[in-house]
Amino acid sequence: MVTYNVNDERIEDFIKSLDDYDEEIESLKDYALKNDVPIIRDETRNFLRLLLRIKKPRKILELGTAIAYSTLVIYKSCDKDIDSIVTVENNIDRIKEAKTNIEKFFDDKKVVLIEDDITNYLEAAEKEEKYDFVFLDAAKAQYIVWLPMLKKLMKKGAVLLADNIFKDGEILESRYTIIKRDRTIHKRMREYLHEVAKDVDFDTTIFNVGDGISVSIKK
Ligand SMILES: C[S@@+](CC[C@H](N)C(=O)[O-])C[C@H]1O[C@@H](n2cnc3c(N)ncnc32)[C@H](O)[C@@H]1O
Repeated sequence: MVTYNVNDERIEDFIKSLDDYDEEIESLKDYALKNDVPIIRDETRNFLRLLLRIKKPRKILELGTAIAYSTLVIYKSCDKDIDSIVTVENNIDRIKEAKTNIEKFFDDKKVVLIEDDITNYLEAAEKEEKYDFVFLDAAKAQYIVWLPMLKKLMKKGAVLLADNIFKDGEILESRYTIIKRDRTIHKRMREYLHEVAKDVDFDTTIFNVGDGISVSIKK
């Protein structure tokens, strides 16, 4: 039998070579990487794009804007007749850059940047402000706190995609092998995954994509 020298890295390179190339997305990605701005990985970006194209949401909530890189990916993956993309960020420097990028790359007023803490936004959001897609990419220890609030803001059939659920593999390790400083995040991320997976109102699947993704559909 012939055996081939195929490993994960080669597979990833091969997939990347077939990626859609978008100059604006690539330029924002390059800027983020050069300036140490944390952004979604390419595999996560492609997965997000695919889900959006299948789901075709009209009202989207993004938690964790950074400089609006993933916002741009979301925007370009959706139909032009979406209602809005609401995106929340509380870091002053990133807000400044996100505003500049939103002005530069988004040609309509459908992107609304909320300059506030996510908890404040979720607590203040009207119950009837129903979303059909939520992208969760902010403070990992807060996912478990935000889950019940998010649930109320999601329509039936809405999708909740949470990123970085493996935290570079740390989540799979026993809590005793984790350095003390990171134990809270470890515990709370496990609680989030347990809660969302066991919640009868959600259908949840975990994917080994990027740094780990959970996709939950509200029943
Ligand atoms: C991983 S980055 C988001 C990256 C972005 N989604 C992308 O891929 O382009 C997480 C962002 O969430 C923001 N963030 C974290 N906790 C937050 C909170 N409680 N309220 C608002 N923003 C928060 C951080 O300031 C950071 O910019």
